Amino acid sequence: MKVSGGATTSFGTEDGALRDAAFAALEQAYAPYSNFRVGAALRATDGTIITGCNVENASYGGALCAEQNAIAAAIARGLRDFTELMVVTESDAPTPPCGFCRQILVEFAPTLNVTSITRSGRSARWTLAELLPHPFTSSSLTSA
Ligand code: THU
Repeated sequence: MKVSGGATTSFGTEDGALRDAAFAALEQAYAPYSNFRVGAALRATDGTIITGCNVENASYGGALCAEQNAIAAAIARGLRDFTELMVVTESDAPTPPCGFCRQILVEFAPTLNVTSITRSGRSARWTLAELLPHPFTSSSLTSA
């Protein structure tokens, strides 16, 4: 894991667009129970940026993660291929997608690059393959 303090990682010409989209989504987060707001922005291979935020529920287990909502919104728009995911939070350290989100992401984007940025400007960057090295995929089903 690469973490840098004080500056965002540079990884392309549209970093700012993806980061800004993710922070705009964070502002829409519904997180009254955890107070942990998350924004996510996915870049599709055609350049489209799709965002999501976390949406919690009084029945706590009903919480939906920002990454999960971003990919669901993208699929509903007919997008299936993605290159970059930006996750933003207000925590001190950059946070990777949770395990359940990793599984949801690998279904469509096994070669995804994932960047996490905090409000304070700290960032971390991984490949999804680093985060989920032995994924359960459709090909796993064929060996049953
Ligand atoms: N959360 C996300 O949105 N993404 C993650 O990858 C981890 C957790 C949300 C779920 C819940 O609303 C809050 O963060 C605290 O777990």
